[in-house]
Amino acid sequence: MSFIAYEDVSVVFPATGKKEAVTALEDIHLQLEPTELVVVIGRSGCGKTTLLNLLAGFMSPSKGRVLMDGLPIVGPGVERGAVFQKNALMPWFNVRKNVELGLIFQKISAEARKARVEECLAWVGLEEFANHRVYELSGGMQQRVGIARALAGDPRILLMDEPLGALDALTRETLQELVLDIWNKSHKLILLITHSIEEALFMGTKLVVMTPRPGRIHKVYPLDFCQKFIAGDDARAIKSSPEFIALREEIMGVIHPKEGGAL
Ligand SMILES: Nc1ncnc2c1ncn2[C@@H]1O[C@H](COP(=O)(O)OP(=O)(O)OP(=O)(O)O)[C@@H](O)[C@H]1O
Ligand SMILES: [Mg+2]
Repeated sequence: MSFIAYEDVSVVFPATGKKEAVTALEDIHLQLEPTELVVVIGRSGCGKTTLLNLLAGFMSPSKGRVLMDGLPIVGPGVERGAVFQKNALMPWFNVRKNVELGLIFQKISAEARKARVEECLAWVGLEEFANHRVYELSGGMQQRVGIARALAGDPRILLMDEPLGALDALTRETLQELVLDIWNKSHKLILLITHSIEEALFMGTKLVVMTPRPGRIHKVYPLDFCQKFIAGDDARAIKSSPEFIALREEIMGVIHPKEGGAL
């Protein structure tokens, strides 16, 4: 039995007013295992966020089932932490409070909360900023807070919907490496959505390429570039290697059969 299984899943958003019904996902079969780093890529509107929302328990499929440990997902749960492109932090709280918030709702003791928050802030390199307000931080630092907050409840799965999409190129590369470090140390399942083919190839152990509406899975690629990075290879050298470039071009051809531009 797989840890996570999408079984024959379709999602149809019903027609409302003048808007026609939208089939966001169709015939999705996908298995995810506990320590994978699964990256989902595809054109805008192909159903990536819908795929993630099903696993988060924010919505239910119109057809089929999404199972965790063989049981249907029926709503959000502490074992699934989420990070979004817009980090949805509380700007009037300081960093520590933002990371701690979810733990307060979980009725964890103040002492245990403090220790856990310190640990998570250390993971994302923000120990010295614990007392800063969120609005005093850069975009990259705010995303680090978002990651620390998602980690605080020690979820089994980290769901990341374009978490690095709004960052400049250098900050983005630094955070890619941070997420890989967290994944490598925590052995969590990560489901990451991105529009960057390079990011997808560099970070994933499994790449799910989706087709445009209705969203279907075109192909699932096993990857090992991130393991090479974790073993000590240089990130730039990996990204400019012939294998990496060949796969990047192949996937570009799938997603952009004619024009070959950015997603
Ligand atoms: N709540 C909703 N009501 C109606 N249609 C929706 C709803 N949410 C998503 N859709 C539609 O479902 C399709 C898939 O949307 P989704 O947000 O999953 O795509 P996506 O791949 O994440 O796109 P992007 O890359 O732009 O974030 C789109 O056509 C979208 O307009
Ligand atoms: Mg989306």
